[in-house]
Amino acid sequence: MAGADLIAVTGVTGGLGGRVARRLAERGVGQRLVVRDPGRAPELAGAEVATASYDDPDRLRRAFQGARTLVMVSASEDPDRLRLHANVVDTAADAGVERVVYTSFFGAAPDCTFTFGRDHWHTEERIKASGLAWTMLRDNLYLDFLPLMVGPGGVIRGPAGDGRVAAVTRDDIAEVAVAVLLDEGDGHLGRTYDLTGPEALTMAEVAEQLSAVAGRSVTYHAETLEEAYASRAHYGAPDWEVAGWVTTYAAIANGELDAVSGDVAAVAGHPPTSLAEFLHDNPDSYARLAERP
Ligand SMILES: NC(=O)c1ccc[n+]([C@@H]2O[C@H](COP(=O)([O-])OP(=O)(O)OC[C@H]3O[C@@H](n4cnc5c(N)ncnc54)[C@H](OP(=O)(O)O)[C@@H]3O)[C@@H](O)[C@H]2O)c1
Repeated sequence: MAGADLIAVTGVTGGLGGRVARRLAERGVGQRLVVRDPGRAPELAGAEVATASYDDPDRLRRAFQGARTLVMVSASEDPDRLRLHANVVDTAADAGVERVVYTSFFGAAPDCTFTFGRDHWHTEERIKASGLAWTMLRDNLYLDFLPLMVGPGGVIRGPAGDGRVAAVTRDDIAEVAVAVLLDEGDGHLGRTYDLTGPEALTMAEVAEQLSAVAGRSVTYHAETLEEAYASRAHYGAPDWEVAGWVTTYAAIANGELDAVSGDVAAVAGHPPTSLAEFLHDNPDSYARLAERP
């Protein structure tokens, strides 16, 4: 399959890219699923599969040939993520792709508190310099992940202070991506969308909502930065990764994730999902809380 409207989508074995690919298939759109392991590619009508890792420019170039548009899902956190992302951008431009829709992070900046957010800013800059047309989707913290932040004893521990987070569901992000992809005009080109939920919640408010649905007490313990690094030390993770975990919360404390945007509604055509709606519709998301000590 090749053609003027072929869309290449990366990250389709994951939560966000998979949601985008399923929605495109449901609408009968031809797409190429770019995966590392073809055995794990979703089976979708109208989709073909190409195998390429972000680490392999030759395969990436082949995977992108014939596609007009690329949905570029950011790689899993990696100390070398900028080089991996540069491979994707550069090979897409070489292969003749015309536009890229990139899943970035809310407030991406070279000096943002959330250390992984800095990679996103550098990647955006690489895309802007590549000659490709672009749309940046700057996703706030995934709302889907809030129940996963609850640790032992039903406690959310982190240095988020009394800050607020305008978390957004991956379903809403995927719907924005698909609306951008299927728009026949050029109104989304050169645009950066801030994708947030409908409200900004403190972690104490998140805990309160989780308590209400899970039927057990969930609380928030505001750690200091020092406590946060110490409480995560037993995982034995490398420093760059622990810094990413801790600074997710620190960015909330610093007010860098609290702005509520109207971009989901404006682009997807419906208001974003609130935490209460998400929990109501997805009881599996917090089921483990009831069982956990
Ligand atoms: N906004 C947030 O709160 C938030 C939270 C977590 C992550 N993120 C970022 O958003 C991205 C998408 O989120 P998600 O929930 O869909 O993550 P996910 O479920 O972990 O999926 C990540 C996808 O990217 C692919 N991938 C990762 N590294 C790659 C590489 N080096 N080369 C080729 N493919 C690679 C994975 O392929 P495999 O299946 O082969 O591993 C998978 O398909 C993440 O990768 C991360 O950068 C954002």
